[in-house]
Amino acid sequence: MNHLFPRHLLGIEGLTREAAIEILDTADTLSHEGVSVPATLQGKTVLMAFFESSTRTRVSFEMAAKRLGAQVVTIAPSTSSVSKGESLLDTVRTVAAMGSEIAVVRHARSGAALFLADRIATTIINAGDGTHEHPTQALLDALTIRRKLGRIEGLTIAICGDVAHSRVARSGALLLRLLGAHVRFAGPPTLLPPGMADAYGVSVYDRIEPALEGADVVMALRVQQERIAGNPLPSLREYNRIFGLNEQRLALAKPGAWVMHPGPMNRGVEIDGALADGPRSLVLDQVKAGVAIRTAVLHLVATHQALLG
Ligand code: CP
Repeated sequence: MNHLFPRHLLGIEGLTREAAIEILDTADTLSHEGVSVPATLQGKTVLMAFFESSTRTRVSFEMAAKRLGAQVVTIAPSTSSVSKGESLLDTVRTVAAMGSEIAVVRHARSGAALFLADRIATTIINAGDGTHEHPTQALLDALTIRRKLGRIEGLTIAICGDVAHSRVARSGALLLRLLGAHVRFAGPPTLLPPGMADAYGVSVYDRIEPALEGADVVMALRVQQERIAGNPLPSLREYNRIFGLNEQRLALAKPGAWVMHPGPMNRGVEIDGALADGPRSLVLDQVKAGVAIRTAVLHLVATHQALLG
């Protein structure tokens, strides 16, 4: 069954269309009412190594691992020897030596997941590395869209905001394009790096309005204040005035267009609170799909390990 799935999940880059669809299909299968989740991870230990803050990703991976029968251990920088200067590699290698088979890793450095996968035998799942990739976010976003619209092929999806710092935008564009969607990036020029159109096969806009025209789905990105250096924005109030997603702007999209946000949200900055809580919002559907996708990913990597013997 699992011949397509890679040993690690480091990014959407390198994932085949067939493997991506296998993850989405497995997520749906394991979510069906009455289907009992297999104890694929019984007797295994999953390490949650989060070197950056997280609510959605960390909690849903933990729930998914426990559903599959795993023991879960967590490293937090403030309460581990990371605070004494222990490196990422030494930290994960130490817990792997205690017997954890899978490490779910979030780190501020782009490439951190690949760095570990190249150096230790543990299966590495990338839970977000710097501005590079956040593959399970892209997968849960794709699952949310597929569940709501029944397909991804041929849809127009506008991803709007702080593209420069967004691993969600990068992984999302790679996956949605792989599945046949037309993807648009929109951001203020200071938050829109050059070369995105060629690198990701997307259409690029430096104003939000034309990017929304005729879109089936609009995803607002968080303004990542913790990663923003220099002074690329006059103020958050000004950002909201020029780029914030609101009812008036959403009216430019297709009638009935859906609104997404990966979270955490800056309400009143990149998205109006009323829109985020309104009937077109898929924000909580995304959160729900996160548990399903992470269950599928852990199940598939574990099955792959079993096949490897
Ligand atoms: N979307 C996302 O990665 O959220 P968290 O930072 O809360 O995990």
